[in-house]
Amino acid sequence: MEVARKMHAVRIHEYGAPDVLKYEEADVPVLAPGEVLVRISYASVNPFDYKVRSGSTQSYLKLKLPAILGIDLAGTVEQVGDKVSRFKKGDRVFGRADFKAGGSYAEYAAVKEDDLAFAPKSISLKEAAALPVVTGTAMTALFDVAKVKKGMRVLITGASGGVGSMAVQLAKSVGAYVIATTSAENMEMLKSLGADEVIDYTKGDFSKEVKEPVDVVFDTVGRDTLSKSYGLVKRGGILVTSAGMPDETLAKKYGITAKGFQARIDHKRYEDIARLVDEGKLRAVIGKEFQLSELKAAHELSESRKARGKIIIKIAK
Ligand SMILES: NC(=O)c1ccc[n+]([C@@H]2O[C@H](COP(=O)([O-])OP(=O)(O)OC[C@H]3O[C@@H](n4cnc5c(N)ncnc54)[C@H](OP(=O)(O)O)[C@@H]3O)[C@@H](O)[C@H]2O)c1
Repeated sequence: MEVARKMHAVRIHEYGAPDVLKYEEADVPVLAPGEVLVRISYASVNPFDYKVRSGSTQSYLKLKLPAILGIDLAGTVEQVGDKVSRFKKGDRVFGRADFKAGGSYAEYAAVKEDDLAFAPKSISLKEAAALPVVTGTAMTALFDVAKVKKGMRVLITGASGGVGSMAVQLAKSVGAYVIATTSAENMEMLKSLGADEVIDYTKGDFSKEVKEPVDVVFDTVGRDTLSKSYGLVKRGGILVTSAGMPDETLAKKYGITAKGFQARIDHKRYEDIARLVDEGKLRAVIGKEFQLSELKAAHELSESRKARGKIIIKIAK
């Protein structure tokens, strides 16, 4: 019988507070057909990771414990499984791991070929690890759901977060007029990403600062921010949220469409992201960096909702 190879990983053996994240040894995943073994250089943290860790997603996401969390990754192909045609050992790749098969908080992950693409050539693997989920999410919301085009007025809430910072750049890349909400400390960063107007939501009611109705609101904050956004959209316009449930009654009252969505991300979308990055139209926004053994602190920062850009986890160079 073959002895399993070992790696460092962060696993949960139970759901709960950040303490349940355990830095320990785990087996290197064994490849199934169609999978690629990635030696991970960097991972990044998404709010979904801590929601899964806390147990709040159990009604629709069943994990076999112990489980390795983490979705975003960038690294190098170590081995390819049967039926893999696009990659070979040594390729620089980025994409997303699947919690159910083993996530990206580890030295290795077995990733479906369709969930990977070649990493952008012009940036480091560290920057590449910041891109997959948030950029794919922002593209789904802005382009697939809201159909944002040149000349539209677009309000993006939570604009300094992972999804928001990508959404600002993507909306600008197609020629939209972008209004962004953030706290005072991140206003300059939003201007440098191209936002035409930046509103400091900590000063008072942000909705009073939006002087003319917008064609599209992309809300990434939820709660009060979401409920105050309906009245900011022109009649016939659209509100898309990644952070709450749309309220049909409010949407009707204002004569707008309100939608939630599931991010649509496959290798073609990752290829589009890599192209935009290499063309200089999109850049990763990185906040704090942690070691794999410091994942508890990384989750605490993510849960504080004060992370600026992406939280990066260094795993290997
Ligand atoms: N539907 C999907 O498929 C999907 C996919 C990805 C993400 N999501 C969800 O989308 C949401 C955003 O994700 P994310 O990765 O962008 O989160 P994130 O990076 O953790 O967002 C943190 C940012 O939120 C900002 N923020 C907090 N409260 C705010 C407020 N009241 N007004 C404006 N900005 C505020 C903070 O800015 P300041 O520091 O300036 O306050 C911080 O930069 C999460 O709920 C996530 O679960 C959904």
